[in-house]
Amino acid sequence: MATVTEPRRLTKRSLQTKLLIDGKWVDSASGKTFATINPATEEHIADVAEGDAVDIDLAVKAARRAFDSGPWRKMDARDRGRLITRLADLIEENIDELAEIETLDNGKPISEARGGDLPLVVDCLRYYAGWADKIQGATIPVRGNYFTYTRKEPVGVAGQIIPWNFPLMMVAWKWGPALAAGCTIVMKPAEQTPLSVLKLGELAIEAGFPNGVINIVNGFGETAGASLVAHPGVDKIAFTGEGNTAKIISRAAVETMKRITFELGGKSPNIVFADADIDKAVDGALLGIYLNQGQCCCAGSRLFVQEEVYDQFISRLAAKVNARSLGDPFDPATQQGPQIDKAQFDKIMSYIAKGKEQGATVVAGGERFGTKGFFIKPTIFADVKDDMAIACDEIFGPVLSVIKFKEVEEAITRANTTDFGLAAAVWTRDIAKAHSIAHRLRAGTVWINCYDVFDAAAPFGGFKRSGIGRELGEKALDNYTELKTVTVSLD
Ligand code: NAI
Ligand code: MG
Repeated sequence: MATVTEPRRLTKRSLQTKLLIDGKWVDSASGKTFATINPATEEHIADVAEGDAVDIDLAVKAARRAFDSGPWRKMDARDRGRLITRLADLIEENIDELAEIETLDNGKPISEARGGDLPLVVDCLRYYAGWADKIQGATIPVRGNYFTYTRKEPVGVAGQIIPWNFPLMMVAWKWGPALAAGCTIVMKPAEQTPLSVLKLGELAIEAGFPNGVINIVNGFGETAGASLVAHPGVDKIAFTGEGNTAKIISRAAVETMKRITFELGGKSPNIVFADADIDKAVDGALLGIYLNQGQCCCAGSRLFVQEEVYDQFISRLAAKVNARSLGDPFDPATQQGPQIDKAQFDKIMSYIAKGKEQGATVVAGGERFGTKGFFIKPTIFADVKDDMAIACDEIFGPVLSVIKFKEVEEAITRANTTDFGLAAAVWTRDIAKAHSIAHRLRAGTVWINCYDVFDAAAPFGGFKRSGIGRELGEKALDNYTELKTVTVSLD
């Protein structure tokens, strides 16, 4: 691999590395820091303040004060919306720098960070800015001489725990509805990607959010994350990550009866019928699995292809996959960067080994790329059986399992044979078939003749073990509001 060309403007001094608590940048109480590394070079980027239970307590208290007695609660809803708009504008003004930090810390190609993630971040915040003054209750016709109405009030202090695959996008999905609803926030970013979120914290202060409304505490899951979940001053936990982590969080959160929403993993079926536009379906299948190095909760990792077109589909996929450009994520032509860290790299490589052992055929990739950085060649397995590990488990990497099927009913049954239910896709020119299959797939999102189409207005979340609740759209506002019923005697 050629040398990695980090942009010169990202000097250590320009990176924010402290904790944001009560509107101030502070070191952790313990004075501890942890290193964040560049996954493309395995080199050290910066040492970041490492928060634990003490810092979480300070942040929750600040968020509590801001919620219970700060100017935030008295602010007109429309002015809250204007602050969110101001933040979106500042992100847009600083879009190049934010994209570069994201690429440096996460390894995703700059073309995706700059052209995909960041524009969606801005759009999502603008969308929720518009909701701030439109969160309305209802009047209810009850028996007797009473007037009954409902109010939607902010749930309070929201603890938000996010993963490393789309750091800034996860912030937008979580801050947008929480701020629109009038909540205050303590955010715990992922330990692999602490940097871009801190930059957003700087912009939030510049935008004028009152002290304590947005707090950011970096640190590890078992310490900072767990203290946030356990803290009695937190009203709600929103989490995106692994199912096993969600179980731990769920058990801890119930002690103080926190509201929870979870967005977890998947093993999403992508079903291609022989009557599909095959060129479009090939591109959709590639996007579905390889976007973001395969580190997507909704990755289309089980590709079902109807037998009439199975062989030609695989050879077309392989030709395109072998032409993908891997390498320096700062090169604008790069399509695939490194996996996030050594742990994920090892996990993915062990699944590739299992796929080979269990008898699937490697059609492309199947090995590491280069000798430095956590790069894995985009991999395609053919002749995959439903019970192989690569067909059942979330790999969270650039590994596609291609599975042959014959009939519609069979495709639906096999697609639904998983505990996950986040997303699915169907490719066919028969529109009636497409809709009827979409209705029968047990997944929170179904794409027809497209993949990975996201919009701030369209709800997203999982059936079954892929999560609880929905993010995005009007629906996500429910995650951050309590419904209050007020009844007045008219006698
Ligand atoms: P994870 O679920 O452990 O980490 C996600 C976030 O939760 C991080 O901020 C982490 O610090 C925090 N966390 C971890 N343990 C915690 C605890 N006990 N209490 C509170 N917070 C805690 O996910 P990880 O280890 O990074 O990745 C493991 C696997 O999870 C991946 O291989 C992938 O399969 C899946 N995953 C799914 C994601 C999605 O978008 N649905 C995102 C990231 C990972
Ligand atoms: Mg973990």
